[in-house]
Amino acid sequence: MSFFEHHIFCCTNKREAGHTRGCCAEKGAEGLRDYMKLKVKEAKVPNARVNMAGCLDRCELGPCMVIYPEGVWYACKTKEDVDEVIHEHLQNGRVVERLRLKDS
Ligand code: FES
Repeated sequence: MSFFEHHIFCCTNKREAGHTRGCCAEKGAEGLRDYMKLKVKEAKVPNARVNMAGCLDRCELGPCMVIYPEGVWYACKTKEDVDEVIHEHLQNGRVVERLRLKDS
């Protein structure tokens, strides 16, 4: 059993402008992570934790997050995407396929 029921890692890594892989920070990741942390708290999702993370190595697809212990990856580009992950995944246990990053 995991310490947290949902442990969400949001990449907020920042690279210099023009880097070939880009980065999640240039796509608004820091604001989206702050928004997610606030909304998870407001929604009173039990035993959930939102943490910032360094590069998760899927830079081109970001902003990236991964939720453990499920190991489900998402690319959330807007606040509405974050709201959907909170409502569907965290509160109702349904993976949001339209935002999911495939394993390969
Ligand atoms: S910069 Fe976010 S996954 Fe690499």
